[in-house]
Amino acid sequence: MLIPMTLPLSVAAETWLPESLLPVAYLVAGILFVLSIGGLSSQKSASRGNFFGMAGMVLAVVATMLAPEVASYGVMAGAIAVGAIVGAALASRVGMTSMPQLVAALHSFVGLAAVLVGLSTYLDPGHPLQGPEAIIHGVEILLDVAIGAVTFTGSVVAWAKLDGRLSGKPLLLPGRHFLNLFLVAAIVGLSVPFLQADPGEGEVWLLAIAGVASLLGVHLVASIGGADMPVVVSLLNSYSGWTAAAAGFMLGNDLLIITGALVGSSGAILSSIMCKAMNRSIWNVVFGGFGSDGSAPAANADQPEGEWTEIPLGNLVDRILDAQEVVIVPGYGMAVGQAQRAVDSFTRDLQGRGIRVRFAIHPVAGRLPGHMNVLLAEAGVPYDIVMEMDEINGDLPKTDVVLVIGANDIVNPSAQTDPASPIAGMPVLEVWKSELTVVFKRGRGVGYAGVVNPLFFLDKTRMFFGDARDSMEKINAELKSRP
Ligand code: TAP
Repeated sequence: MLIPMTLPLSVAAETWLPESLLPVAYLVAGILFVLSIGGLSSQKSASRGNFFGMAGMVLAVVATMLAPEVASYGVMAGAIAVGAIVGAALASRVGMTSMPQLVAALHSFVGLAAVLVGLSTYLDPGHPLQGPEAIIHGVEILLDVAIGAVTFTGSVVAWAKLDGRLSGKPLLLPGRHFLNLFLVAAIVGLSVPFLQADPGEGEVWLLAIAGVASLLGVHLVASIGGADMPVVVSLLNSYSGWTAAAAGFMLGNDLLIITGALVGSSGAILSSIMCKAMNRSIWNVVFGGFGSDGSAPAANADQPEGEWTEIPLGNLVDRILDAQEVVIVPGYGMAVGQAQRAVDSFTRDLQGRGIRVRFAIHPVAGRLPGHMNVLLAEAGVPYDIVMEMDEINGDLPKTDVVLVIGANDIVNPSAQTDPASPIAGMPVLEVWKSELTVVFKRGRGVGYAGVVNPLFFLDKTRMFFGDARDSMEKINAELKSRP
């Protein structure tokens, strides 16, 4: 986010935007952001939502650049050029499967920017403040720096965990809740001398607050287990929004307040929806496995397995052609195998033969919110056959064939039957209730939560081993040879 700055630079700026127009431009940008979020609420209006978002951001950036506070464009142009080059290079190389890491890394930049802007605003407030005004400004600065530091280090740890650079296992220190409380109390304690210090004399306290908040960010995220990471990513998204809102108050920038509040509240709502989908309490996630074992991954990966029964290609295609109702459950493996286009061709072939095909989407399928919806939309699968878990679970007992394409945890019956399972209580797609369930995967690998899946060994389950895309292409070729 662009923040007006006053820096001594060689290229002097002129103000082209009358001062009174700046709030109007910010208001219009804010309205465009609201329309953008509204548009993103459904797949049909998502591109319109994206357009509004981009238009709002262009307006916000241009209006900010033309604001009277901008003293020079030299540094701004340099920073934008470096950011654009690095951003474009990174974004073009990042695969869909690495998106969560990228999102976590981007949140860390918001946190770091907030800390740096907070420190610089404290050191150079622009105009001297006295009495209550000075205290209110001090509180804004310390909130901005504290939330920014938690967001920065928490996001760095989330990035390292999602990228496999740190273990996904939760760090469960003895007395960890007291440690969190102690760190929060230390931030509150350090705020007192900071607010009492003479203007510009309290930077030591501000740096100490940033240090303690950084530790809190590391500890909060380090103590969260692998399966809870989706919620953490959306929580950090929310924190980054509140950080921006705090920066908005500190800088007196209305647009930052509006966008920060939008990001903060939408991230909080998304976190709560995801917690519901995984049957975890938000407090449990925020306070690092509070009242649980922290959902340690791989907790039952050593349990004995059953017998895997494979289905030959010809038999599988026979069963599909005999079916009236087919449901496809895509998971992370479909993203890894990039099988979505082959899945779309398969769907159209069956529809052409009068077989009803629908998709069942679990809220945490894949590795980021809406991951499967994005892939299916990209492949051109019609939206009206893509159903949410709650819409389709009740229809699965009446389904002839369910094809589970690269999904594992989201179809694991032990979530309902084994109270000791790390995913116990997580709502799952009840695919085992259908006439036949065929699981497409490469081998005997476990899913993200690292737990054995008894679905694979049930009487009505068959395995079709291989890369998801190769498997779908084989089936498509076989279907073409059938009248
Ligand atoms: P997973 O449980 O991770 O299972 C994916 C399965 O796909 C694996 O068993 C793997 O088995 C198979 N696979 C991998 N590559 C494949 C390929 N090329 N072709 C065919 N199969 C392939 O995925 P899920 O069922 O979608 O569940 C999502 C999990 O991720 C949940 O635990 C969720 O909490 C977690 N998570 C979700 C998110 C969000 S927001 N969605 C973010 C972070 C974590 P093989 O290795 O044997 O092939």
